[in-house]
Amino acid sequence: MQIRIVQDAPLSARTEALVVPIFEGTPLDGTSKEVDAAAGSAISEALAAGEIKGKFGETILAYAKDRPFRRVLAIGLGESAKFETPLLARYAAIAVRSLGRRNVTTFAIALPKQAEVDAAATASFVAEGAIAGSFETTVYQTSPEKKIAVSTIDLLAGGLDAKALERGAARGTILGEAVNFARRLAITPANDMTPAILAEQATSAAKSASLEIDVLDEERARKEGMGSFLSVAQGSVQPPKFIVMRYNGDPGSKELLALVGKGITFDSGGISIKPAERMEEMKYDMSGGAAVIATMSALGQLKPKINVVGIVPATENMPGGKATKPGDIVKAMNGKTIEVINTDAEGRLVLADGLCYAAKLGATKIIDVATLTGAVVIALGHAAAALVSNDDAFAKDFLAVAKPAGERFWQLPYYDDYTAQMKSDIADLKNTGGRAAGTLTAAAFLRAFVENTPWIHLDIAGTAYLDGESAWQAKGPTAIPVRSFVALAESLST
Ligand code: BES
Ligand code: MN
Ligand code: ZN
Repeated sequence: MQIRIVQDAPLSARTEALVVPIFEGTPLDGTSKEVDAAAGSAISEALAAGEIKGKFGETILAYAKDRPFRRVLAIGLGESAKFETPLLARYAAIAVRSLGRRNVTTFAIALPKQAEVDAAATASFVAEGAIAGSFETTVYQTSPEKKIAVSTIDLLAGGLDAKALERGAARGTILGEAVNFARRLAITPANDMTPAILAEQATSAAKSASLEIDVLDEERARKEGMGSFLSVAQGSVQPPKFIVMRYNGDPGSKELLALVGKGITFDSGGISIKPAERMEEMKYDMSGGAAVIATMSALGQLKPKINVVGIVPATENMPGGKATKPGDIVKAMNGKTIEVINTDAEGRLVLADGLCYAAKLGATKIIDVATLTGAVVIALGHAAAALVSNDDAFAKDFLAVAKPAGERFWQLPYYDDYTAQMKSDIADLKNTGGRAAGTLTAAAFLRAFVENTPWIHLDIAGTAYLDGESAWQAKGPTAIPVRSFVALAESLST
């Protein structure tokens, strides 16, 4: 997908469709008003008839006779007073999905006047949203019903600074592609996304983005003392891969941000096996890892001045003959012993060694991200991911960049009580703490592997993939928190 910044006046845009915004309860103005007049009042009549109100995501498509643009698509952006720049990503995505499914290959898109506040951010959201909107979930279908045909978008600059728009569009393109990369890794079924294939994908991404990469195999992981990670892998015939990607954007600095993503390419639960219902969704259990790999790929292209290491312990969780049994005790890289009460609480076991390895590499800040607990769906549903941290200032900085990036996180508390719940009678820790506060006992477990390094834990079990599609988003993987990770790296860039 190509996003071009064009200086054309909207009415002379020579294209297959012209996209304009409308707001609920606000009379048409600016470009939308001009275009409405040129298209025989198609929009204002639909509004007057109550066919649309301008609510977010509503659309009206009309043919514009004898105009250089053949169609007009008006898209509702909701109440004008509630407008926020990240909504432009959805605006562009709705245009791509609705026009693309009608075989439109190219369209021009006008911006609302609120976009004037920040031209670069505006273009970034449009590009990111357009690319994310084009994501196809039908790659395995032999003859998919409706492909999204859009290949080129002309962003009408209006009066905005063209240089800033170009810069924003370039960033948004890289980000949108990273988002789709993470989604493609996540949606690919486990037979085609084994730990080895995930490592190959990371390797080729590293090559294209000039990143360093190191993939530790089972033998090296054993030498490193990653007994917790390997205890999850031992029930599977697929060899585990411990993926380490490195972006050195600030070689003079000792600061190192570590992103650690859960890379369970399939979670059957192991010996504590899951029920059959919806088990197929457990191909998504490497969504955190996918987000880390895709973020690294974006950073290699965006080149912020910061050092980042991406760590993805990748393995299947299977109940093979050599599988870990409930009651087994394993040892993590930092020497701590763990009683495995439930083999389905495997994410924290692989992350434990991932966090230890981040510390070994000298991480000065650590964020882990994982589809870790069903309990987070009970707490927050699919509306927000949970955030737990040992450092309120770091959490605050992350939340401050995540929101304007268009992703939702909600901070949950860390109390010593949760750590107490994870004490084992026989080992240093156990891997489950009972039903109460399942998301927080999981976080308390992880905290035992980060010592005092500022750390954030993100539980994306409720937000990594969605059950239904919307006007702007395909059903399935969301790529959370790629947008926030990229925004954080940029904000830490010196
Ligand atoms: N991968 C699951 C968590 C999950 C559940 C992700 C639903 C997405 C949707 C994780 O490995 C798991 O099985 N967690 C257990 C932990 C429990 C055994 C302490 C859970 O949440 O039930
Ligand atoms: Mn599990
Ligand atoms: Zn899992």
